[in-house]
Amino acid sequence: MSKPKVIVTRKWPAEVEAQLKALYDVHLNESDIPMTAEELKHALQTADALLPTVTDLISADILNVENKRARIIGNFGVGYNNIDINAAKAQGLVVTNTPHVLTDCTADIAMLLLLMSARRASEGNRLIRSRQWTGWRPTHMLGQKVTGNTLGLIGFGRIAQAMAKKAHHGFDMKILFFAPSQPAQNIIDDLQAIRCKTIEELLSEANFVSLHCPGGEATRHLINEQRLKLMRPSAHLINTARGDVIDSKALIKALKEGWIAGAGLDVFEGEPAIDPGFLELDNVALLPHLGSATEETRVAMGNRVLENIGAFFAGLEPSDRVV
Ligand code: DGY
Repeated sequence: MSKPKVIVTRKWPAEVEAQLKALYDVHLNESDIPMTAEELKHALQTADALLPTVTDLISADILNVENKRARIIGNFGVGYNNIDINAAKAQGLVVTNTPHVLTDCTADIAMLLLLMSARRASEGNRLIRSRQWTGWRPTHMLGQKVTGNTLGLIGFGRIAQAMAKKAHHGFDMKILFFAPSQPAQNIIDDLQAIRCKTIEELLSEANFVSLHCPGGEATRHLINEQRLKLMRPSAHLINTARGDVIDSKALIKALKEGWIAGAGLDVFEGEPAIDPGFLELDNVALLPHLGSATEETRVAMGNRVLENIGAFFAGLEPSDRVV
């Protein structure tokens, strides 16, 4: 029997690509240049599986292409707001993602940004590199104490809970959260976490606010001017979720005018473009979407895609099916 044909949209870790080569008639993207909409349509017409990632926009227009051969889209990433899920469903396509394996690394980056923002790490690094540091003094670059402070999490899924664990058990932080559903009691007890009834309540009480909700229309600009104004002047906002959860213009205004003390961002509206307003500010730590960027995690994400399409082609239910 001939091997299923799979098309991978970007370069993957070498050991996962080797597995793909062994198991499938695979078309890899050696150049790592993003595929165009036309190329993605052609991929759906010529392969049994398309393996995109979070930066490939798989729109309804692409999914509705005629004469499709593909039956499964194995997304390399836990977030799948890059795919028009309703259109995929309507087309009878199976869609899978890669949960669990990136939880800790993404929570680590959220913690890193929290620390960077609180302790003015980006600013300090720039000061040294610009050769302007004149030496230690008692009032130089005072930041905010993290240990024992309050962390508010908006969204309380796997990544938020992993961050809460690090913050509570490692930094003795008090945990507040806002989430649509009630987590298991043992999780609440372990973290001594307090559920806020509204986002507004959380924003006004936390010194550090970290976003952990999915991207997409439902959460677009969840953090807007009105909500930023509810935060404390000493507060820091951390985003490792999706860029469009925050209204960038409003955040830039908040940072400039001191409504909040700082922000740490790993994701951006319209990335990789960055609003130039952020680049002029000292009180924002910026990272290029590094949440899951460790050797171990990226290999594990690739393996997760392999497991999902392996199950699908064996006639089984893929464990990470989202549609
Ligand atoms: C995801 O998987 O959704 C992240 O944004 C990239 O790892």
